[in-house]
Amino acid sequence: MNHMQRVVIDTDPGTDDALALLMALNSPDLRIEGITTVGGNATLADTTDNALRLVDHVAVGRDVPVAVGAERPAHGSFSHAYHIHGAGGLGVDLPAASIAPHRADAVEFLRDRALAAPGRTAVIALGPLTNVAAALDGRPDVAQAISEILVMGGAVEVSGNVTPHAEFNIYEDPWSANDVFASGVPVTLIGLDVTHKTALHRDGGPRWFEGTSRAALLANRILSNSFRERPDVQEFYLHDPLAVAAAIEPELLTHRRAQVAVETDGEERGQTVASYGDGPVKVALGVDAVRVVEVVRSLISN
Ligand code: BDR
Ligand code: CA
Repeated sequence: MNHMQRVVIDTDPGTDDALALLMALNSPDLRIEGITTVGGNATLADTTDNALRLVDHVAVGRDVPVAVGAERPAHGSFSHAYHIHGAGGLGVDLPAASIAPHRADAVEFLRDRALAAPGRTAVIALGPLTNVAAALDGRPDVAQAISEILVMGGAVEVSGNVTPHAEFNIYEDPWSANDVFASGVPVTLIGLDVTHKTALHRDGGPRWFEGTSRAALLANRILSNSFRERPDVQEFYLHDPLAVAAAIEPELLTHRRAQVAVETDGEERGQTVASYGDGPVKVALGVDAVRVVEVVRSLISN
């Protein structure tokens, strides 16, 4: 990518979301228009607080708006994943943020930033798709204006991680996922098919990231804490970091084009079903995992 790609990052930080945000904030290839928060890994209050604290801690003096999004999915409520991500959703203490959320909510913010540069703004969606679907709802002008949505979500040819059928982000709000996949906006679906091939290993620590920048030190703390809290786990999957890496280097992934439908009910809730052929969704099925780890480490180390 030889120009700065304008992006809005929709996220539920979340330990791997935090790494993805650190990468994006450090990337010379991305221009972060802002961050929108959604409940998911943690409550909306926690994910928003985590996003604000992260930005305040590592992007001192930069204008990176954080706009508050959905507290609950299209139906029902989110089931959080504190048991994976740790207390507060990050598992590490960060100083209280000195910045406040943006005046616009996530839906207004997404629409505004897309329409400000039609065809030139991508969305990187790292949590349940509630905000993104709401921003597109009844707004073909917004759908037209978004160049691409990179979605971390789904498990197309592999098993899920919350049920045998479903990946967490899609399971949390399958209705919104369906709306996004049917919106006509080009989607790259970065699911467990590829994210489970990209990981940092416990043995690589405690300095997975080199240098003494706040980003490197924080990322090392997040991983150390995560491995300490879950002694049986050997690999920290780079789910959300892979979506940011793919925004920077699309050639990291190979895809098949498809229509994707999501099961909304019963045991198969959250299952992503691809009909290959034509369609607006590029389902990522192959990944250069070695290069991904290089990209993640080099963007956070400094
Ligand atoms: C996804 O779910 C969340 O727990 C992670 O942050 C990632 O977005 C992986 O299934
Ligand atoms: Ca996430």
